[in-house]
Amino acid sequence: MDKDRHITGPENAQEAVLALPTKKGTGKSSKSSCIAPESKLHRKRSKVTVLKGLLPGEDSVRVAAEHALKHFGSSADEPIQLIDLGNVVSQIQLWQKHLPNVRPHYAVKCCPNKQIIKQLRDGGCGFDCATMQEISTVLELGVSPADIVYSHPCKPRSHIAFAKSQGISLMSFDNDVELRKVAAVYPEAQLLLRVVCEDSSAQCPMSLKFGAKRDNWSALLDIIQELQLNLAGVSFHVGSGCKDPETFEPALQDAREVFRMASERGMKDLRVLDIGGGYPGDRAGYEAIAPVIAEKLARLFPECEFPELMRIAEPGRFFAANSGHLLTKVYAKAKLPATDGSGEQVCRYYLNDGLYGSFNCIIYDHVSVCPEPMRRVDSPEVPCALFGPTCDGWGPNVLDICVQGA
Ligand SMILES: Cc1ncc(COP(=O)(O)O)c(C=O)c1O
Repeated sequence: MDKDRHITGPENAQEAVLALPTKKGTGKSSKSSCIAPESKLHRKRSKVTVLKGLLPGEDSVRVAAEHALKHFGSSADEPIQLIDLGNVVSQIQLWQKHLPNVRPHYAVKCCPNKQIIKQLRDGGCGFDCATMQEISTVLELGVSPADIVYSHPCKPRSHIAFAKSQGISLMSFDNDVELRKVAAVYPEAQLLLRVVCEDSSAQCPMSLKFGAKRDNWSALLDIIQELQLNLAGVSFHVGSGCKDPETFEPALQDAREVFRMASERGMKDLRVLDIGGGYPGDRAGYEAIAPVIAEKLARLFPECEFPELMRIAEPGRFFAANSGHLLTKVYAKAKLPATDGSGEQVCRYYLNDGLYGSFNCIIYDHVSVCPEPMRRVDSPEVPCALFGPTCDGWGPNVLDICVQGA
């Protein structure tokens, strides 16, 4: 089961809803609760698996997987995505505990699952959309345009026009070409200058692709003034999978410098600070960095000096990493001689999901996945190869693991 981020289930993935363990008698239905009465869920959705009243400590994911298998039938050949809405709820609470004055805007690209989006919407979150498609998805779910930041700094002209037609005004940029497109298509847009970050220690650095360098800030502000555009604030991203909260220090200082430069030019007071994504999805990881970020934010952008400032963030992995689990099936196997000439036989397992589907996170996000067999066997581990379902010869081993009793 995939325990990391970007669980982008394949088109044909079926879906089941997993209710988290709850103490006996506390499974009330409410908008913010992951536990809904079975009858209500069954009315709303036809394909649903509901678990109620699991005891704390039970392996809820495994139990949910077993229910899902029963629900869809063990002969079903498509992968199944288990969505853990309870994790979404507890992540919202965790966020609020450490960064209460920063409103999270979920980075939809991390897992555009509608159940997750609805849960976040009901929990008061905004949304970071990087594409027109993501914007359409969240709007269809009733999200207000005012709760969306269009975060791609380089957008096609027609997509900027689409944002305009939907009333989405807050959007990022990091270059002058983008400014000229905005001036032509949507001069009323509220712009966030995305500044570059030193992000070499992050799991997925982004600074090679996005972010304006310090030497360009002045020229970009000049163009904004010349084109009579609206600079609303500053955004940055310290790289996805941030391991060092100290990277927020120079990023926040840079943001402050842009605020100073704008004020020096007589531009209207900037009103948005967007501190991007990067926050780990596990509780311990987040708790290690969030208080450090909170301290820096309070020092560099104090409430007393910036009382009207809207502080937002774009967490993706933080909400998605442990809110989805993949139930994938071995549908074929073969034993073949090992390629190392040892004469050993190696088992090849063929899974119904692979690198072109849910496991693309291995390629794009450097994720290590930790599979857990549904049937536990008591035999020694032996090396094996796992392949996805395509006929492609590329991508020899989906997961670099040993399995028991091959
Ligand atoms: C602009 C932007 N914001 C937010 C995110 C989410 O980052 P993370 O998952 O590290 O929180 C990304 C990820 O690619 C991004 O490109």
